[in-house]
Amino acid sequence: MAGYVCTVAGGKGGVGKTTTAVNVAAALEGEGYDVVVVDADLGMANLAAMLGVDPDDSIHEILAGGGAVSDALTEAEGGITIVPGEQSLEAFADADPAKLKRVVKTLRNAYDVVLIDTGAGLSHETTVPLGLADGILLITTPDEVAVGDAVKTAELADRVGGEVLGAMINRATSETDVETIAEKFDSKLLAVIPDDIAATENEPLVFNSPDSHAAEAYRLLTDQLVGVFFEGERLADVETVVESEWFDDVDGTTDDESDDDDDDDDGGFAHSVFQGI
Ligand SMILES: Nc1ncnc2c1ncn2[C@@H]1O[C@H](COP(=O)(O)OP(=O)(O)OP(=O)(O)O)[C@@H](O)[C@H]1O
Ligand SMILES: [Mg+2]
Repeated sequence: MAGYVCTVAGGKGGVGKTTTAVNVAAALEGEGYDVVVVDADLGMANLAAMLGVDPDDSIHEILAGGGAVSDALTEAEGGITIVPGEQSLEAFADADPAKLKRVVKTLRNAYDVVLIDTGAGLSHETTVPLGLADGILLITTPDEVAVGDAVKTAELADRVGGEVLGAMINRATSETDVETIAEKFDSKLLAVIPDDIAATENEPLVFNSPDSHAAEAYRLLTDQLVGVFFEGERLADVETVVESEWFDDVDGTTDDESDDDDDDDDGGFAHSVFQGI
């Protein structure tokens, strides 16, 4: 059976697209699925760097017309395979995003899941991965501009025939107004990932900080995605992944202040803001 192609997109830069692709890949590997992550952020390819690998071949060579997909497959931590990009401007200039379709077709025949990491902004480069995915996961942070850009990306996905699975709020804190953000999207809010220092320091945190809140959130999101990818679960039936205790001490407060937060928990995230999603 052909694998599932999931594009991780967002619109705004730095919202956690690559982090999400890597951690979902790690969690899928942990559940026994064979995963490949493609760096389709052709202008600012940094997937390999995030995983600490220094590959010889890249997707840019394939998209420039030379090289087979198999040449660029690179093993990274935890059994994840990546198709890395390269950083040079020359490579960027020569790469034709339209050729990504052929690359993905090849990969979906060899892997259970093909995750496509995309760049920021709206361009031909970011549009192609929206059109060829079986499903699109939209990433935003709580930031208003990021939310607006993710909504716009969803509209673009619609125009090119892409199916948005749902949105994910990354780097959420106890201050995040989840409900208001969720209302901005036509699609479902699939997950809320807490802001977690481990995400920056111990990438991929699903392997390196498995007990962190963010790692747990990514594992739960991955369980939901597996249901949608492989078990025929309807998006309408998928529950939003979120645990109120993830947000107790991630907002930079001191221990003393955190204690105060505990006292007024009832006015917090889980009980008021998040109701009804
Ligand atoms: N849940 C989180 N908590 C804390 N830091 C995070 C979280 N998710 C991502 N980050 C950090 O935010 C930064 C940006 O993440 P990332 O590179 O994944 O974003 P991106 O959307 O892929 O960016 P770009 O548009 O440049 O490709 C990184 O330093 C990453 O470690
Ligand atoms: Mg990125």
